[in-house]
Amino acid sequence: MASATPDPADTAVDTVLVVDFGAQYAQLIARRVREARVYSEIVPHSMPVSEMLAKNPKAIILSGGPSSVYEEGAPTVDRALFEAGVPVFGMCYGFQLMATTLGGVVDNSGAREYGRTPLAVSQTGSTLFEGTPAEQSVWMSHGDACSAAPEGFTVSASTSVVPVAAFENDAKRLYGVQYHPEVMHSTHGQQVLEHFLYRGAGLAPTWTTHNVVEEQVAAIRAQVGTKRAICGLSGGVDSAVAAALVQRAIGDQLTCVYVDHGLMRKGETEQVEKDFVAATGVKLKVVDAEERFLSALAGVTDPEEKRKIIGREFIRVFEQAQAEIIAEAGASGEPVEFLVQGTLYPDVVESGGGSGTANIKSHHNVGGLPEDLEFQLIEPLRKLFKDEVRMVGQELGLPEEIVQRQPFPGPGLGIRIVGEVTKDRLDLLRDADAIARAELTAAGLDREIWQCPVVLLADVRSVGVQGDGRTYGHPIVLRPVSSEDAMTADWSRLPYEVLEKISTRITNEVRDVNRVVVDVTSKPPGTIEWE
Ligand code: XMP
Repeated sequence: MASATPDPADTAVDTVLVVDFGAQYAQLIARRVREARVYSEIVPHSMPVSEMLAKNPKAIILSGGPSSVYEEGAPTVDRALFEAGVPVFGMCYGFQLMATTLGGVVDNSGAREYGRTPLAVSQTGSTLFEGTPAEQSVWMSHGDACSAAPEGFTVSASTSVVPVAAFENDAKRLYGVQYHPEVMHSTHGQQVLEHFLYRGAGLAPTWTTHNVVEEQVAAIRAQVGTKRAICGLSGGVDSAVAAALVQRAIGDQLTCVYVDHGLMRKGETEQVEKDFVAATGVKLKVVDAEERFLSALAGVTDPEEKRKIIGREFIRVFEQAQAEIIAEAGASGEPVEFLVQGTLYPDVVESGGGSGTANIKSHHNVGGLPEDLEFQLIEPLRKLFKDEVRMVGQELGLPEEIVQRQPFPGPGLGIRIVGEVTKDRLDLLRDADAIARAELTAAGLDREIWQCPVVLLADVRSVGVQGDGRTYGHPIVLRPVSSEDAMTADWSRLPYEVLEKISTRITNEVRDVNRVVVDVTSKPPGTIEWE
C-alpha cells in the first residue's frame, strides 16, 4: 500500500527541519516551532546533509540528545550543514556539536548543570535575546560545557558554571544555546526560539491549521479524482477529523463506516450518527454488530483474549461493510480505491526509529485495519500533532464533544469490565461512566485530566447497607490520570467534593453498585486501563 497524499514539505510551505539527536526533545521542539506558526519537520541525525538541504529548509534546528560529544560513537554533524547559508540554531547537544565542529572549545570538565538554572544575558539586544531580561531562568541538562565560542561568534549569555551558554553569529545566521528553550521551565524559551525563527531566519508566522485544511483539501482532490474512498470511524478524534477533512474535499465520494460493537459509552454512537453527520454531511454506514461481539465475548474473562476477539470481529465486520459499499459503488462505475486513516505525526516519527518494547498489552486500535487490504491510503493528518488535529477539527466545524474527546481505547468498555462482558454489565458500567463524565465536565476538569477510565469489578462483591437493607453489590473504580503521552501517568488529585458527588450519585443511581473506589496508582507500576 502506498501513501500518495503529498507532504506539506513538497509544496511551497516554508519548512524548518529539526534534526533529532535522540531522546525526546525533537518532537517538543517541532511542536514549539509550529506554535510559532512556522511549519517544522523532524529528520534523523543520520540523514546526509545533502538530503536535508534537498528539502529546501528555510532553517535548521539541532536538537539536544543524551550523548556527550566526547563519547565514542556519539552522533556528529557534517560541517557542510553550517556552510550552506541556511540559518541554524543548536540547542544543548546540538549547541555543543556546533561549537566543536566550528572550532570552539567544549570541555569535559565535570561542570554539570541539571534542572532550573539562572542565566545571565550579556547581550540583551541580541538577535536571540532582545526584549528578554538580563537574568532569566533556563532548563539545563548537560555534563560538558563550552568554554570558548568559535571564531566570529558573540557570546550572549553565561551561567555561573558555563562561560558560553549562548552564542550568535548574525553574519552567518548561526545561533546556539546550551539550555533547552523548548521546555516550559525556560521562562523565555519560546521568545528566544521565535527570535531565531523571525529575526535570525527571517521567517514569518504564516503556518496555520486553516492553511493545512486548504492544502490537504486540494491535495486529496488531486489524488482521488472521481474515484471513491472509505473511512473507518471509531468515535475518536483522529478518525473523525481525517474523515471530515476528506469529506470536505470529495463530498459523497467518501463513505464512512462506523462499527457499533456495543462496547461504546453512553451517547457515543448517537454522537457519531447525529452530531458528526450533522456537522459534516458525511455519508455514513453504521453497522450494528452488538450481538455478534457480545456472543463472541461470552464466557471470556482473560484481557488479552478479549482484545483478540474484539480485533478479529472488528475486521470481519469492516470487511463485510466494505464489500457492500464496493458492490453499491460498482453500479456507479467508479471504483473504491482509497482508504482514509487518521495516522498522526508521532506515529510516523516513532515507527521510523522505534526499537522493540515488551508487549505489555496488545493494543488494538479499532479503526486499525488488516495489512493486506488492497487500497491506497489517504492519511491527511500524518504530519500533525494531536493538538493540531484538534484545531483542524475545530476549523472544520466539528462539535466540541468530538474534537476535545479524551483518549478511549479501541476495545471500549470490553476492557473496563474485570470479568465476563455481558450486556447487563455494560449497561451498568455505561450508567456509572456517564455520571463520572458529567460531573468531571461540570467541575471543569476535562482539560486537566488525561482520561478517567471507569471500571466495573464484575467479579468482586462487597457488603453494604442501603435504606436499612443489606446489599451485596459491585465496586466501581475511578481511574483519573494526568499524563503527557500515556507512556507514564500519575493519578490525578481530584477535589474531594467532586469525588463525593460522583460517589454519591453512582451508589444512588446505578443498580448493583454499592461502593466507589479511587485508584491512586501511578504508571508504572499500574497501567492506565485495568485490563
Ligand atoms: P495502558 O492501559 O496501556 O493505556 O496504560 C495507555 C493508553 O492506551 C489506551 N489503550 C488502548 N487504546 N486500544 C487502544 O486503542 C487498546 O487496546 C488500548 N489499551 C489501552 C488507554 O486508554 C490509554 O490512553
